[in-house]
Amino acid sequence: MKSINVQIDKIFAPASALTPADIQALKPEIEQAHAWLHNGQGKGSDFLGWVNLPSSITSAQLDEIEAVAGTLRAEADLIIAVGIGGSYLGAKAVLEALGGSFDSLAAPKKGRNPRLLFAGQNISEDYTWELMEAVKEYDIAAIVISKSGTTTEPAIAFRILRDEIERRYGKEGAARRIVAVTDASKGALRRLADTEGYKTFVIPDNVGGRFSVLTPVGLLPLAAAGIDVRSLVCGAAEMERLTAEAPFGENPAMQYAAARTALYRAGRKIEILASYEPKLQNIGEWWKQLYGESEGKEGKGIFPASVTLTADLHSMGQYIQEGERTMFETVIRVAEPSHTFRIEADGENLDGLNFLAGRRISEVNRMAVLGTMLAHVDGGVPNLAIELPRIDARGIGALLYLFEKACGLSGYALGVNPFDQPGVEAYKKNMFALLGKPGYEQEGEALRKRL
Ligand code: PA5
Repeated sequence: MKSINVQIDKIFAPASALTPADIQALKPEIEQAHAWLHNGQGKGSDFLGWVNLPSSITSAQLDEIEAVAGTLRAEADLIIAVGIGGSYLGAKAVLEALGGSFDSLAAPKKGRNPRLLFAGQNISEDYTWELMEAVKEYDIAAIVISKSGTTTEPAIAFRILRDEIERRYGKEGAARRIVAVTDASKGALRRLADTEGYKTFVIPDNVGGRFSVLTPVGLLPLAAAGIDVRSLVCGAAEMERLTAEAPFGENPAMQYAAARTALYRAGRKIEILASYEPKLQNIGEWWKQLYGESEGKEGKGIFPASVTLTADLHSMGQYIQEGERTMFETVIRVAEPSHTFRIEADGENLDGLNFLAGRRISEVNRMAVLGTMLAHVDGGVPNLAIELPRIDARGIGALLYLFEKACGLSGYALGVNPFDQPGVEAYKKNMFALLGKPGYEQEGEALRKRL
C-alpha cells in the first residue's frame, strides 16, 4: 500500500505560525507520549486496548462477524444499527466513505441489497416516528450497540424496535434478527440479551467507545452493509505497524501530533478538518468525537471542527479566510479518484467553461485544494495536509488508525487523560433529574427552580 502522507510543508504555514524547528522541538515529548501508549505507564492506561487492536484481530473473529452479518443480510431488507457516539459514528463514517453516494436510491432487498440504517443517536420523536413508518414495508433486523449497556438514547430506540420485531416475527424470530454488541458481563443490555437469547459480541473492556470502530462495534454493522472489513482491518494494521516503528521524522502520527500540539501552544485553539470529498464528511464527525472527547478537559484542548469543501467555502469560507485568527486547518487530500469523468468541450461555449475542456473533474478539484490552501495560508491560517492515496477500505482503515494514534499522542502532550470522558455525565444527570428518574429527586427539585 502506498502509505498515507502527512505533509507539513513550508507553503502550508504562514512564516510565523509553524516551522520545522517547532515540530522538532516537540520530539522528546511526543516520543515520551509514544512510549506511554506502548508501555502503559501514562494516564488512562486501562484503555489502551486499541493500540495493538488491528494486528490482533484474528481471521476467526472476522469469520464470525461476517457469518452473523450474512445471516442478518439474508433475513432483512433493512438492518438498523442502534447506538450513539463511539457506538455509532465509526460505522456511519466508514459506510459513507466506502458506499456509493447514491446507494439510497436502490431498493433495499434482503440477500441482494440490504441497507444499513442508524437509530438511537438522538431522542427525536419525529425521527423515531419516521423511522418506524419507513421500515413498515420491509423485513428488518437490528444490531444494538452499547458498551455501558445503559445509554438512554439507544435504549429508547431499541425498546421500540424490539417491540416491533417481536410483534412481527415472535420472540424466536426476534432472537434470530437481533444481535447485541456490549460489555462481557455488565449493563442492562447484557442482561436483556442473555435473557432473550440474542447473539452477542463483546466490546473489550480496554477499548473506549471512540476508539472502538475496529471492534464488532464498527465491524459488525459494516459487514452487514457489505463493506470489506478485512481490508479495513488490514489497512489499520499496516498503519499500526508504521506508527509503532517509524522514527519521529517519518512517523505520520508523531508528525501530525507534534504539528497540532505546536500550533495549539502558539494560540491556535481550533482545528478544522477539511476534505474535498463529500464521502468523507462523516469521517469528520467521527474525528470530532475522537479529538473533542479525548482532549477537551481541564479547561484545555483544541476545539475540533470540520468542513466539506468546496461546498462549505460558500458558507464558512469567508470566516476561515478573514475571521479571528485562532484556527488551523488539516486538509485530507485524496490523490486518485476511483472513477474518471472529463469535462467536454462545448461548441458555443456560452458558459465560458471551454478552458476546462478535456480535463478531469479531479484536476479541477486538485487545483481547488491547492488554491484554497494557499489562500488560507495567505489569510493567516496554517494548513497541514494528510494525503490518502485513494478512498478504499485499506486507506480508510489506515486513516482511522492514524487519527487514533495521533490522538493518544496529542492528548498525552496536552497533559490530560485522553481516554476518559467525565464531562459527558453532566447532561445525563440533569436529564434524569428533570425526568424524575428514581434516585435523582433532589437534583430535580433544584434544577426546576432554575428554569
Ligand atoms: O466514546 C465514548 O465513550 C462515548 O461516546 C460512548 O461511545 C457513547 O456515550 C455511547 O456509550 P455506550 O456505548 O456505552 O452506549
